[in-house]
Formats: sequence, structure tokens, C-alpha cells
Amino acid sequence: MSIPDRFIDELTAKCDIVDIISRYVALKKSGGNFFGLCPFHSEKTPSFSVSPDKQIYHCFGCSKGGGVINFIMNIENLDFPESVRFLAKILNMEVPEDGKTGGDSSKKERLYAASTEAARYFHAKLFSDEGKEALSYLERRALSKRTIRNFGLGYAPDAWDGLIKELMEKGFTKNELLDAGLVVKNSKGSIYDRFRNRAMFPIIDLRGNVIGFGGRVLDQSLPKYLNSPDTPIFNKSRNLFAINIAKNVKSRTILLAEGYMDVIALHQAGFTNAVASLGTSLTEDQARLISRYADEAVISYDADEAGRKAAARAINILKKTGLNVKILRIPGAKDPDEFIKSNGADAFLNLLSRSENHIEYRLCDLRAKYNLGLDEDRVSYLKAAAKLLSTVESPVEREIYASRVAEEAKITLSGMLNEIKKEYSLFEKKKKREEKREILSPASAIQPKTREFRYGNVHSAAAEEGIISLCFYDPTLIPDILSRISSAEFSSRLLGKVLDIAAERYKDERPVTLPSVSDSLSEAEISHISKVISKPVKGSDIKKAMSDYISIIKLQSLKGENLDEESLLLAQSKYREIKGFGGNKV
Ligand code: CTP
Ligand code: MN
Repeated sequence: MSIPDRFIDELTAKCDIVDIISRYVALKKSGGNFFGLCPFHSEKTPSFSVSPDKQIYHCFGCSKGGGVINFIMNIENLDFPESVRFLAKILNMEVPEDGKTGGDSSKKERLYAASTEAARYFHAKLFSDEGKEALSYLERRALSKRTIRNFGLGYAPDAWDGLIKELMEKGFTKNELLDAGLVVKNSKGSIYDRFRNRAMFPIIDLRGNVIGFGGRVLDQSLPKYLNSPDTPIFNKSRNLFAINIAKNVKSRTILLAEGYMDVIALHQAGFTNAVASLGTSLTEDQARLISRYADEAVISYDADEAGRKAAARAINILKKTGLNVKILRIPGAKDPDEFIKSNGADAFLNLLSRSENHIEYRLCDLRAKYNLGLDEDRVSYLKAAAKLLSTVESPVEREIYASRVAEEAKITLSGMLNEIKKEYSLFEKKKKREEKREILSPASAIQPKTREFRYGNVHSAAAEEGIISLCFYDPTLIPDILSRISSAEFSSRLLGKVLDIAAERYKDERPVTLPSVSDSLSEAEISHISKVISKPVKGSDIKKAMSDYISIIKLQSLKGENLDEESLLLAQSKYREIKGFGGNKV
């Protein structure tokens, strides 16, 4: 770790979490806390709270939480040291390095630098003699010079060591080139350029760093595209092509395409809100990334069977993040790029205005599977459609679709609505059964899902949480606590660990705040602890509460780890409390 701990303490002391979070979320004061719409999941009523006293945030909806550094890690997609540097910049603080280079983040800086240099090299080559063929290829694909410059497109020459020579001259080592995914090692241990004789598409992250490349052949050879492998700076499943540009659109709509060329053609036609996944199918991380910048996603995948299958899958992934999802059909062309090339931007805008919401799209898909001229097909279609429509929440919308389906399959609207109702009650029953199962095992419901920090004893853990919460509320209680109990008597490994960290910090006369301890915890652990300490400290007699907690822990620790009846009851009431407290379920 190359940033001294003392500096992190200083930084978190100087940093006001409300100030920082306000840069991302509109916060309103209510009581001692601030509330806003959670930036990590989509919601309509605010369940995201920020406590200026405790310097933590916590979302009661998605249960993300932590301190200011952890907030920056999540929202900016940075690691710990990167987040510290990011905040230091905002606060005008200079980050002292402890002299050791080669730390994790300076290594990443080297890989960013190598990738940027590589992009410069490819771009320059595109406009050199060697790049003539590539340049005319891109022009044949109707890309303007301006678009080529905007996207920093390039050409990787037809040589084994063009890039290697260039970057080694600039001081990069073989290992750095390997780590950046720019070169490949052969079985004899020597290295050669990964990308040769290809048109190059740099992939740029949210902060404008070049993190990887896609490279396309100039002819029909295979593989058509070659992508950078995952590296310490490039994670295919967490980035999107052109998100660095699309994130700035004001419209809160993002267009999701399949390919690099689709995105570039869309941007050139004025649709600068287009992005694409990077040679893999859409992931949940990518959907969440989209939902940070948009309320609506319009899927504009290829028109072929593969594209339709991918769209069906993407609908569900995008919907899970709370995005409003629409689907575009591209008539008479293979993909958005070809459509725009032959029909122009206005025609695409027209398509966009006719994009279907996901229910219409799925209904249409269903209809295509049946022959509505046949009685038995009609019945099957009706059943399938009713099942789909039973998931539509708005009664008005439900009725509109229902009447369309009824019309097509030639039954009465009330008959159709009845069928939907039947499907709906089946669905409700299933949901109830699932909920019941959850209530039957309340102990598991109040425990975080991660096995790592499964509580040993629910009754004791509630008291342990109380102790931890007191440590953060008033660190001067720590010596008193430690004189009476130790982390070894805690049933929860995580809570014990946090007690130890807090004690250690108190002994060193360092602040005991969540941001300052979060370096030693995993993200899930930080979220969990933020929830524990965001609960108000109850009662006026804190010393008495402390003593009570300690006696409970001692008693339970004597009893061993068995869950007795009493603690199950407690777990059950606690479960209710949490469910009631949480408000909206996720
Ligand atoms: N892709 C890939 N590797 C391949 C083929 C495709 O990574 N061998 C990814 C690329 O990101 C590509 C996307 O999948 O942009 C869509 O592929 P495809 O539809 O085959 O290509 P197009 O985008 O239509 O490319 P082009 O128009 O250049 O032919
Ligand atoms: Mn294409």
C-alpha cells in the first residue's frame, strides 16, 4: 500500500461526506440525516441516507453503504488508492507516497500510459503510408475524418514488433506490454504484437483512460474482431464501448447496440448516447453502469436470430436494474450501422420513435410462434400472452394489451382479463410460498448472504452489533468495553474483527470512523457495518446499554453456539423490524 495511513485519516477528517455525495445525488435534509435517490439502484422514493455525524451513507433499499472512500470506489468504479487520490484532488491535498514504487496503483498508471501510447501509435499509423488501406476501408464504411479522430481509430501495421519497438523506446518494459494485453508471448518466451494488420478501436473508460482495444480485419478473414484480454485495467464485463461519451447525454436514454461499428455509425448520425458491450453478451455490471446514466435503455441489436435471442436476454438483465426497457426493430438491414448507411439518420430517428416497450416486443415474439388460424394454437397463444401480461403492473396498460390480444385471438376482453387474473393469482400464490419459506427461516433472513460473515449466534450478534455501534458513536467508550469483553467472545467473526480494528485505532489515537476502517474490509462487509452503525443508538443511558449488551454476549458465549427457542423468537421479531424498516423491497 503506497499511501500512508495517516494521510488517509487526514483526508477522511477533512472530507465531508455530504459535500462529496451531493456531487452525485440531490440530497434533502430530514432530521439529522440527508436523503436522496440511491445512485446504486433505481428507485422512485428516496431510501438512500447520508449521515453527516457518522460520515457514512446507507441505502435501505439495496443495502449498499459505507464511508466516503467506499462511495467513490463504487460510483467512480475505482479501487481504494485510486479513490483516495480522486478525493485528494477534490480537496486540494497532495498525496504523499511512501517512496516504494511499483505499488498496485502506480502499476496501473503505467498500463494506462502504455495503452494511451499504443492508441497514439495506431492512430498515427492510420494516417501514414502503411495505413492507407485501412483508412480507405474506414472511409468505405462511411466514417468521416472527424468521426475517426473523435473515436481515435487507428491501424495496427502488418508487423510483429511495430508496437513493441515504439513502446520500448518510450521506456515501457516487456512485462508492462504483456500486462497491458498489447503483446503476446510465444512458446519460446519471446513476445510479438497482439494486433497486426487490423483497424483499431480504442476502448476508453469513464474517466477517459484508454484501457483496451478491439481490432477488425480489413477483409473477410477470421477472427473478424480481436479484443484485448482482461487485464488489471480492462474488465470486459464492467465496461461499455463509448460510455465515456454517452454518459454525458442529457436525455437519460441510452442506446445499446451489439458492435463497435454500430456505435460509431450511431454517434456519427447524432445518436451520441449509443454504447455496446465488448464482444461478450451484456452483463449485470454493464446494466448497472447504464442505469447510472439513464432511466431508459433502448436495445438496438442485430436483426438476425442471434440478435433477437440476445435482446430477450438483455431485456431481463436491464429490467432488473429498474431501467425502462424498449426494443428497436431494424427492418431491411442487418444492424444499425447498415440501416443508417442505407437509410440515413432521420429514418433511424423514426425507428426510434416507434421502438416498442418490452411487453409489446415479447407479445410480438410470442405471436410469431403460433398459427392463429388454428383453434388449439390460439388457446396456447392466449395462455402464454396472459402469463406475460400478468406481470404488467399498471392496470390501464394491462387492459390495453389485453384488448389487443383479445382482438387478435378473437375472444372477449373480459375473457382475456379473466385469464390474466388466473395467471396473476398463480403468480401471487407462488410468491407467497416463497415469502413463507423465508419467514420460516428468519435467522437466515437477518444474516448477510455471504457465508464469510455468518453470525454464530443471532441473539449474541444483536448485542455485538450494539457494541460496534457504540464504538463508532463514542470511541471513548472503547477502553471500558475492552476491559470487560474481548472479540474472542463475539459470535460473529466480522463484528469481532471490527471491534479489534476500532480498538487498535483508538489505541493509536486515530479516528474511529467507517471510512478509516474500511480499507481492511471487503465491500460486502463495509455495507453490512454501515447498516449496523447507521441505526440510531437507542436509549439515553448509554453506559447501561453497553453493560446490557456485554452481559448478553457473555451469557450467549457461555451457552455455546446453539440457537435456542428464545433467540429464534428474537430473530423473527428482528426480521419483521428490518422488513418494516426497509420500506421498499428490492
Ligand atoms: N465480436 C468480437 N469478436 C468477433 C466477432 C464479434 O468481439 N470475432 C464483437 C465485436 O464487439 C463486434 C460485435 O461483437 O463489434 C458484433 O459482431 P458482428 O455483428 O459480427 O459485427 P459487426 O458489429 O456487424 O461488425 P462489422 O459491421 O464491422 O462487420
Ligand atoms: Mn455491422
